[in-house]
Amino acid sequence: MTSTTAAQTPQVVTDATPFDQIGGAQTVQRFVDRFYDLMRDDPQYGALRALHADDLTPMRASLAGFLNAWLGGPRDWFVQRPVLCMMSAHAAIPITHETARQWTHAMARAMDEADVAPDLARQINAAFERMSQGMATR
Ligand code: HEM
Repeated sequence: MTSTTAAQTPQVVTDATPFDQIGGAQTVQRFVDRFYDLMRDDPQYGALRALHADDLTPMRASLAGFLNAWLGGPRDWFVQRPVLCMMSAHAAIPITHETARQWTHAMARAMDEADVAPDLARQINAAFERMSQGMATR
């Protein structure tokens, strides 16, 4: 009888970063824009929308810039903000577990509607869920 071990499992070795795999800055901006469109237009994200400033334009650029770097792409966003920790940046925002859930729910939809590869989107959103729930304080 044969058994499958980890050593026998075929693996695809690639140098491509998640940023490359997702389709680069254009795709990131596409799903970030969709994310803020959903937040703006769908009442189920009302509590999340209420935490943000009226003008979402700066966030469209900032979240995309952060995610470019976080996914392994250009690091300009961190060069411009050398000491900004994303968890600390949210410490003063009254984030509940419900608004954290709204964030990842809208983001999952945004990635799906922007045609991010489903496997990659699932992995990315699993990380977002951990971050978001870690930001929730009540
Ligand atoms: C847990 C749910 C979250 C809520 C309720 C939330 C809320 C907010 C709010 C209210 C702001 C300030 C926006 C403004 O001034 O209009 C902000 C900024 C920001 N958030 Fe979140 N956020 C959440 C999760 C996340 C996650 C998971 C990420 C990263 C993956 C993220 C990335 C950012 C970035 C990059 C900024 C802008 C920082 C800057 O430009 O200085 N947020 N967030």
